[in-house]
Amino acid sequence: MTEPVVRFSRVGKKFGPLPVLSGIDLSIPAGRFLGLAGVNGAGKTTLIKCLLDFCDIDAGEIQVNGIDRRRPHARERLAFLPERFMPPYFLTGREFVRSMLRLSRRAYDEDLVRAMFADLDLDAAGLDKPVRSYSKGMTQKLGLAACFLCERDFYVLDEPMTGLDPKARAQVKTILRRLHAEGRTLLLTSHSLADIEEICDHMLVLHRGVFVFSGAPAALRERHGATSLEDAFLKCIETPCDG
Ligand SMILES: Nc1ncnc2c1ncn2[C@@H]1O[C@H](COP(=O)(O)OP(=O)(O)OP(=O)(O)O)[C@@H](O)[C@H]1O
Ligand SMILES: [Mg+2]
Repeated sequence: MTEPVVRFSRVGKKFGPLPVLSGIDLSIPAGRFLGLAGVNGAGKTTLIKCLLDFCDIDAGEIQVNGIDRRRPHARERLAFLPERFMPPYFLTGREFVRSMLRLSRRAYDEDLVRAMFADLDLDAAGLDKPVRSYSKGMTQKLGLAACFLCERDFYVLDEPMTGLDPKARAQVKTILRRLHAEGRTLLLTSHSLADIEEICDHMLVLHRGVFVFSGAPAALRERHGATSLEDAFLKCIETPCDG
């Protein structure tokens, strides 16, 4: 059997006395597009930080491509966009993209970079401007452009649509559809359940430290006899059902 891209086994995480993740088991097979939903403070970002070894865990273990998450090698095949993306303000757009590509051992190709900027409706003039002059949405697009240009097998995107206008959201979805068709793997968090339904083939609802739903977005709707995913989500966290 092929190794899953991500495996969490009985993972627990507390901040002081506050348990955020309790006995989390998770397996993400290659090619899955997984949407992680949950109310503010549910622990979505914490789960990602645990995955990427940005914080310690209190119980269990996490592997990425079969490698313990604490080994830098585990992150070699992934690209990550944090929920609060803040590139070094003094770099130009080009310098930022160049440094990200260097970190992922890829050559800088001006044509590819300009094509990606165009795909995200980001003005190529921004390549010569310091990122401190970018608007919020432009900054987010820069982070997405760098991620996509790194061409990894696995993308971890924490609320990637933050600050994007409707046109850019549609363009990001087009890129994600292409990555899905190419068999890449995605872990995405979003408060837009419509986006999760459109982008992902599988979703998880994290609530009070555990997954209260795991399955296809349509299955969550059906389980609760709800017409919208939002309605089903509310019913799910009010009367938790297990995955
Ligand atoms: N460094 C930290 N120190 C203490 N508590 C923290 C820390 N980081 C997160 N928490 C707490 O852990 C819980 C989960 O936070 P987290 O950021 O993972 O939630 P989230 O699901 O990503 O929320 P949002 O939808 O608002 O992004 C919250 O109660 C938060 O206050
Ligand atoms: Mg978060």
